[in-house]
Amino acid sequence: MTARIVITRRLPRAAMTLLGDAGRVWISPHDRPLTAGELREAVAGAEAIVTLLHDRVDAALLEAAGPQLRCVANVAVGYDNVDADAARERGVIVTNTPGVLTDATADLAIALLLAVTRRIGEGERLLRAGTPWSWDLSFMLGMGLAGKTLGVVGLGAIGQATARRARAFGMQIRYSGRRQAAPSVEAELGGARRLELDELLETADVVTLHCPLTAETHHLLDHRRLRRMRASAYLINTARGPIVDEAALVQALGAGEIAGAGLDVFEREPEVDRGLLELENVVLVPHLGSATTETRTAMAELAVRNALAVLAGEPPLTPVT
Ligand code: GLV
Repeated sequence: MTARIVITRRLPRAAMTLLGDAGRVWISPHDRPLTAGELREAVAGAEAIVTLLHDRVDAALLEAAGPQLRCVANVAVGYDNVDADAARERGVIVTNTPGVLTDATADLAIALLLAVTRRIGEGERLLRAGTPWSWDLSFMLGMGLAGKTLGVVGLGAIGQATARRARAFGMQIRYSGRRQAAPSVEAELGGARRLELDELLETADVVTLHCPLTAETHHLLDHRRLRRMRASAYLINTARGPIVDEAALVQALGAGEIAGAGLDVFEREPEVDRGLLELENVVLVPHLGSATTETRTAMAELAVRNALAVLAGEPPLTPVT
């Protein structure tokens, strides 16, 4: 019997409870991403698929699902893993999970910012390695944040939440992006100003990425753009790995063209470039932006509610554009 709702990876209990008597539900029994073949097989005949960001939902997968498919509910705000155009052509509604992960992701961006500018990972590695040390006026100095400029690439909900937090540390906000923020938002962020990306890179002490991954933003920070950053500047990426040319970043970090980086996302997840692993001036975490119990539960619940709404013939709560 084919499943009506296919869930590609275990969800928190609260989200499963919502499914109640939704009909035939198939949940992947594996504690890992499904292979492309397993995914194709699993979705055949489904009316709704609840996907994670590691599931590639392309035209071929939609085809494999069949014409009865009505909804792809992605458990993430970013939906670069879903071919939304191909879905639209087939009348399949795609939904994501904006809003519920804004604070958690902004918190992590600030955690990385503090960790890399204050050398937290490096200091911890030093202690764990048993390296002798003593308090000294020049020992493991980092960069203070008060009065420094945070360059926010993409002042959407997460960019704004990160900027608000950075204001509490005394940082000045500049941003770049397709749209000018509302005057009230600029004012709330202490007179944030919009700059062209190149100018932002040249003037920021810390650059933090909060734009979606699209064809336009793929390798937005390439070799040329990284070289525009100050040698004393730091890069934070909690958005998507491929926005940065990772090989160029390794080179820029190694050559001292920028001071450091705090990375939550990588170009070929779950792989992490060996060059990054060998550098002291980077802080690396495994895509933890939304990783709090509260947030991951809320994301899963929102995705399930979206799928159920579409199956009930109601408008989904958070469709992508
Ligand atoms: C996580 O990366 C998300 O897009 O929600």
